[in-house]
Amino acid sequence: GAAKLSPLKQMYKEATEFYHHILMTTKIGQRARDYAAKRQLNEDLLQHFNIGYAPNNENILLTYLRQQGYENKLLEESGLFVKSQQGELFDRFRDRLMFPLADEGGYTVGFSGRRISDDPEVAKYMNSPETEIFNKSKLLFHFFEAKKAARSENRLILYEGYMDVIAAYRAGIKSGVASMGTSLTEDQVYMLRRITPNIIINYDGDNPGVHAAERATKLFDKVPGFNLGIVVLPDNLDPDEYVKKYGVERYQGEIAGALAPLEFLLKRLASKYNLQNDREKLAYINEAIKLIAQVNDPVANDLYIEKLAKQTSATRESLKASLLREQRRLRQVQRHKTVVSKANNSDPPQIDLAP
Ligand code: UTP
Ligand code: MN
Ligand code: MN
Ligand code: MN
Ligand code: MN
Repeated sequence: GAAKLSPLKQMYKEATEFYHHILMTTKIGQRARDYAAKRQLNEDLLQHFNIGYAPNNENILLTYLRQQGYENKLLEESGLFVKSQQGELFDRFRDRLMFPLADEGGYTVGFSGRRISDDPEVAKYMNSPETEIFNKSKLLFHFFEAKKAARSENRLILYEGYMDVIAAYRAGIKSGVASMGTSLTEDQVYMLRRITPNIIINYDGDNPGVHAAERATKLFDKVPGFNLGIVVLPDNLDPDEYVKKYGVERYQGEIAGALAPLEFLLKRLASKYNLQNDREKLAYINEAIKLIAQVNDPVANDLYIEKLAKQTSATRESLKASLLREQRRLRQVQRHKTVVSKANNSDPPQIDLAP
């Protein structure tokens, strides 16, 4: 049998089932079922992701959990309620589609609730506050399920939003995960590294999404051993919108066409300069050489020097000379760092043995 859950996890389990039941079977769940249908969340998806509905009621969950015997102290600790100035508890989530957030064992430790009204005054998503069991910088949405699927798919896909993970699942990609609406953390990168080196980043195709992908690419770069691909969708679309507009097959083509990190970073860099202007072109070449130099692979170096030569009409020879100079500079910086760290420590320099 399963290990006994902590009281807080047991409460979250009951809350998950309660909200799910309301969505799937009750009359007050009808509006949320209509919204779910509009978002192409079919019954299978609602079941797999255990999606629920928190009705527009100030204490329906509170009343239910009290009936189950939960005391005020634990109810307050759960983050599922807000406390009035008079000290009274009220349901935190109201009129929201509820996405359970599971820990690595698959147990709910928090929720994210999506507004189903179109009132722009109401925040689109609302998350549980952090608690003893919920730390959002160490949680990835759908991680428990995705790590199983990652074995057969031999890769894992990182998304920006819950709805994107769900749309991917509908498209047959079961290894999708998402961070909690915050930028990716190093803890999350190590979680992914334990599962597979093959990671695809498929954030939204809009400006914030591409920026976030750039940041994430640089974060992955700090951890050795990843084989990273980056997908940038056209027309500012997010994966959910893309699948809806162009269908599953074309979406899988986008995934298959994921860019290598350096290719992606160079494209991003080029988009920031006007290459018709010599001053900007030279600045671009300078920055591009810095990126290329960081890759310690002569074949990759040659490939990107070749591309850069074509793009800027600089000669291969001059670009290679700049590359060599930059790589020499990097080695010197590295040597200097080692000397400084040896001088500062009586112990030998620390070697990072993390996976
Ligand atoms: P998006 O604005 O891209 O939302 O934010 P989405 O995932 O496409 O959601 P839909 O399709 O409009 O329903 C991406 C992620 O940022 C977080 C959520 O995690 C969301 O999935 N977010 C967004 C919030 O936490 N709060 C918000 O108000 C908005
Ligand atoms: Mn179910
Ligand atoms: Mn977005
Ligand atoms: Mn989005
Ligand atoms: Mn979306």
